[in-house]
Amino acid sequence: MLLDELKSAQAQAEQDIVAAQSMKEINEIRGKVFGKSGILTSLSRGMRDVAPEERPKVGALINEVRTALEAALEDKQTQLEQAELNLKLESEQIDITEPAQGKCKGALHPIPSVIDRLCDICVELGFSVVEGPEVESDYYNFEAMNIPKNHPSRDMQDTFFINDNILLRSQTSAVQAREMEVKKPPFKIICPGKTYRNDSDSTHSPVFHQLEGLVIDENVSMADLKSMLTIIMKRLYGDDTVIRFRPSFFPFTEPSIEVDVSCPTCHGKGCSLCKGTGMLELLGAGIVNPKVLEMSGIDSKKYRGFAFGFGLDRTAMILNSIGNIKYLYKNDKRFLEQMK
Ligand code: PHE
Repeated sequence: MLLDELKSAQAQAEQDIVAAQSMKEINEIRGKVFGKSGILTSLSRGMRDVAPEERPKVGALINEVRTALEAALEDKQTQLEQAELNLKLESEQIDITEPAQGKCKGALHPIPSVIDRLCDICVELGFSVVEGPEVESDYYNFEAMNIPKNHPSRDMQDTFFINDNILLRSQTSAVQAREMEVKKPPFKIICPGKTYRNDSDSTHSPVFHQLEGLVIDENVSMADLKSMLTIIMKRLYGDDTVIRFRPSFFPFTEPSIEVDVSCPTCHGKGCSLCKGTGMLELLGAGIVNPKVLEMSGIDSKKYRGFAFGFGLDRTAMILNSIGNIKYLYKNDKRFLEQMK
């Protein structure tokens, strides 16, 4: 009797296990077979009615069925889990070759974008790009540029000193002497980078950017400087740009000039960007003072040079019609989105 019941219970459970499609069903079968009122449990209770001499045999059989069913359940469970995992892997598959949705395209900040453009233009003209330290010595920032301690022209650059001899560079001209000391002429370099002065209003920021240019060669003249700057300005602002050279003063260049371009917004008619003048001041330049060449170990009888220094923030503001320099440093996403 009991044995028949055991056989049919086993057969039923095995059938159920084969048919089960989910972990839920597996757990239900487990309950139905091994639970408190499960079939095996009640069959075990039925042992009381089995003749004592039959008990060991029947007991062993029940155990056999228990082990077999447990194993079958275990197997099925592994099978189902594997199938579930495969399904998940398949549905969550990412196609890494699919092109990205073009929506979140970023934009370069106006400053690095201007640096890139100017570097491209200058590299095409044969310049190589160099870098210099932002924390600089008084020597390279001033003295090697023919600005001795206590020279009045230091007043034009309200400098952040770290101690008597270390400062945050107030001009990229500091790289001029560094390069002249290590490079053999002839050479042409540009150096873009951050510069620092204690200045703050709508057109000045304590951190700003310059791009220094330096050409050292035999027989370099003001004519070369003017033609080089004309090419750079026209490439940057367009062929119809008018360029104006004015005499100026820098201790490290002699003679010195300042360079203006016709306002690209009003084309010289006068507007708010150029404050009605039609022209915009853009950079300082000049023929390298022979004293500067000599201090850096270059023979001033044989070599001459010219140098120029761009204000990059101003250039970025002009090219993108930005009214206040502070926008460049506010890190406002809405501003950057307009720069695309
Ligand atoms: N360093 C100067 C400035 O910051 C600009 C300059 C560079 C002028 C090179 C002449 C030559 O005002």
